[in-house]
Amino acid sequence: THQDIDPAKLTIEKSTSPKALLKPEELVFGHTFTDHMLTIEWNETSGWHAPQIKPYQNLSLDPATCVFHYAFECFEGMKAYKDKSGGIRLFRPDRNMERFNKSAARIALPTFAPTALIELIATFAKLESRFIPDQRGYSLYLRPTMIGTQKTLGVGPPGSALLYVIASPVGPYYPTGFKAVSLEATDYAVRAWPGGVGDKKLGANYAPCIVPQREAMSRGFQQNLWLFGEEYVTEVGTMNFFVAIRNKETGAKELITAPLDGTILGGVTRDSVLSLAKEKLVPAGWNIVERKYTIKELDEAANEGRLIEAFGSGTAAIVSPVRTISWKGKTINCGLKDHEESGELALKMKDWMEARMYGDDEHEWSYHC
Ligand code: COI
Repeated sequence: THQDIDPAKLTIEKSTSPKALLKPEELVFGHTFTDHMLTIEWNETSGWHAPQIKPYQNLSLDPATCVFHYAFECFEGMKAYKDKSGGIRLFRPDRNMERFNKSAARIALPTFAPTALIELIATFAKLESRFIPDQRGYSLYLRPTMIGTQKTLGVGPPGSALLYVIASPVGPYYPTGFKAVSLEATDYAVRAWPGGVGDKKLGANYAPCIVPQREAMSRGFQQNLWLFGEEYVTEVGTMNFFVAIRNKETGAKELITAPLDGTILGGVTRDSVLSLAKEKLVPAGWNIVERKYTIKELDEAANEGRLIEAFGSGTAAIVSPVRTISWKGKTINCGLKDHEESGELALKMKDWMEARMYGDDEHEWSYHC
């Protein structure tokens, strides 16, 4: 009687007022949306209802709806790409579905069959195909979202929920090419902590990071480098963080990122960077290391000329090169020359990744819609 998501029950109501397309160069991340949305309601007695694709529209919710009071909300970020024959592809959607289910379960929202939602998202992305520019760097950002919709101020598991997916055509995060960012190492505010929910994609993790980011900006830095405890480096802004250093003892090149210990978001791009590094850098003598490391280690490496480069990784920007980290009044230089906006490794990673996203390098990570 408890129904899972069933793609066979999908109904499609097409928009009668198709939106005008922006020129690709006019696209601003997350500002404009496609003609339709995918919605699936759930309640505790019958489970998942029939999925609907319908014109993009406002939601109507009672002011007492639990999402507004106790933050029953989680989301995903993924992209659909147009390949050179006009086909639409998703990138590792199984990873997003797995994480979506884990996020939902953590806040007492319902879970679902991953393959069913992938099928529906694929149908939705194909329907919105005219919004996806075919140039490199462009894609359709998909935002699966789940909210608790029960109207009650009682604090308890939501008896009803809404899963919806909206889509926003996006261009390269940095339209003029990479722009290396400057970071402020942040210790007075903490993004995530052991036993917390920093490894889940909950909206509630993001809002509290805005004030520290505004603080950093007011001092001339673009993003926070989130430290935890004995000054362990965790993440940068809303992205995972990678550093390439030369090992102090052996001189070997190492690509290092923090381990998934519960305080780190398990990024799909993070995982892809690690996989690509193992595939392509290990044969060239690199070591790929998931371990805890401190800002002090980075400072020391920089002082000794061993810090090769640093970059953030995420779905929105893919990779985001880092120029400097400000820490305790010092500036840690992350290996870029003044005229450079990216290190070699970040550039290569982006190219390797995009080749698989757009299907030029045919790979199992690419899902044909
Ligand atoms: C990322 O893709 O790096 C993100 O964290 C998405 C952001 C818009 C929330």
